[in-house]
Amino acid sequence: MDNRPIGMFDSGVGGLTVLKQIIKEHPNENIIYLGDTKNLPYGNKSKEVIIKLTKKGIEFLISKGVKAIIIACGTATSQALEEAQKCYDIPIIGIIDETVEYVKEKGYKNIGVIATHGTIRSKEWQNKLYKSITDAVINAKACPLLAPMAEEGWTDNEVARLTIKEYLKDLKDVECLILGCTHYPLFSHFIKEELGEEKEIINTGKILSQKINKELINDTIEKNEFDKKRQIQIYQTDKDENFIKVASQILQDEKIDEEIQIVDM
Ligand code: DGL
Repeated sequence: MDNRPIGMFDSGVGGLTVLKQIIKEHPNENIIYLGDTKNLPYGNKSKEVIIKLTKKGIEFLISKGVKAIIIACGTATSQALEEAQKCYDIPIIGIIDETVEYVKEKGYKNIGVIATHGTIRSKEWQNKLYKSITDAVINAKACPLLAPMAEEGWTDNEVARLTIKEYLKDLKDVECLILGCTHYPLFSHFIKEELGEEKEIINTGKILSQKINKELINDTIEKNEFDKKRQIQIYQTDKDENFIKVASQILQDEKIDEEIQIVDM
């Protein structure tokens, strides 16, 4: 039985949409989450900078004794995952591979992907989808305003509704839409409204938490559900009141063990 926590990393609140799914599917895993609020947004940064920031985040999580790391950020997954996996002797997973596998299993061909500029520019989703589904038609679009709006807590106002409408206007024909940035599930209600109920809106955190490699998740911990209270700790790299506010909205009644702590990296 491996009680060590799973480490999770994102630029800000987006990865909490993944955390929420992981805690739902795996109720006894201990988790340490790091939001790099000092350096967000990651979406427009160069690959070199994304790699540097991601490595710092990973090293912080390793120093906390985690058994595995989930890069709960599409931008970091698309540009830094491969490099990180080469550098550290610990399982590190991102949000792309499991979702590509899921889209293939579902038989989708006409696929939309929305993500940050950096993620779309990296072509990581497009390449992996084409490799796995050779006759796929992929419509990939950068939606750079959405992550900063989510950090601001602007997910349920008229500005958010109109922004989604504008971004999705060329994506009406897709069979499914992959939310390639972990901030975007916070806009799911407007995305559904825009594309219609019959289109599948794919939340990568949900797919990842269902498909996560079983060697990362300790089955015996899950069986001992009532023997042990899980621990969730959240860190940010700079004090950001919005992060705290949005985090409590996302996690609702999920108990966080201590107050959100600041770590200087
Ligand atoms: N949540 C992140 C992603 O999945 C980062 C967005 C940002 O910081 O720009 O891409």
